[in-house]
Amino acid sequence: MTQDELKAMVARAALDHVTPGALVGVGTGSTVNHFIDALATMPVRVAGAVSSSEASSERLRRHGIGVLDAGAVERLPVYVDGADEIDPRGCMIKGGGAALTREKIVADLAERFVCIADASKRVPVLGRFPLPVEVIAMAAPQIARRFASIGGTAVLRSGVLTDNGHPILDVRGLVITDPPALEAEINQWPGVVTVGIFARQRAHTCLLGTPQGVQTLVF
Ligand code: A5P
Repeated sequence: MTQDELKAMVARAALDHVTPGALVGVGTGSTVNHFIDALATMPVRVAGAVSSSEASSERLRRHGIGVLDAGAVERLPVYVDGADEIDPRGCMIKGGGAALTREKIVADLAERFVCIADASKRVPVLGRFPLPVEVIAMAAPQIARRFASIGGTAVLRSGVLTDNGHPILDVRGLVITDPPALEAEINQWPGVVTVGIFARQRAHTCLLGTPQGVQTLVF
């Protein structure tokens, strides 16, 4: 199976975690695109979605699925999203698609985070994938120096601004053995909008696509 077929398989499996007629939180990325397409095939559709990016909102609307503003919703039963890496505790690196801030906001509204990913995303320790960090532009050099002081090399993602209008730093060289502590630390740095470590908003379940089928990890 190709990586894309694995993504499509876990996206379809995630429908088992969605309640027909209820709201659903929807992430961003190529795996989630398959999930949005799968949502459109439900015999009883969802009542609507809260989306983490303009791209996902547009795809949802194309399928006739209504998109609600996050501010209009107090709780969601479930949030479904991909990951760039996921560790044995369900902590993730996210933001490869630059949607990390809205992803964290919508994940925080949800009772459960269901991560959908192909097996290549499972790692023993986070950090091989460059850590995305959304920043206020004027603070980027200062934040890059702070990363250098903890062993990271931060580079501005070229030609990319987030849906919120901010640049992204991608940080290589970190070995993230304590994701909750590093997330909390980086969040204190002036100018950081969101760090792509999802430890507080970690996954409760991961549907992992393997050539043998969908493996369900519960954290
Ligand atoms: C988007 O900003 C990311 O957090 C995505 O969830 C992550 O990059 C996974 O993307 P794919 O599903 O495209 O691999």
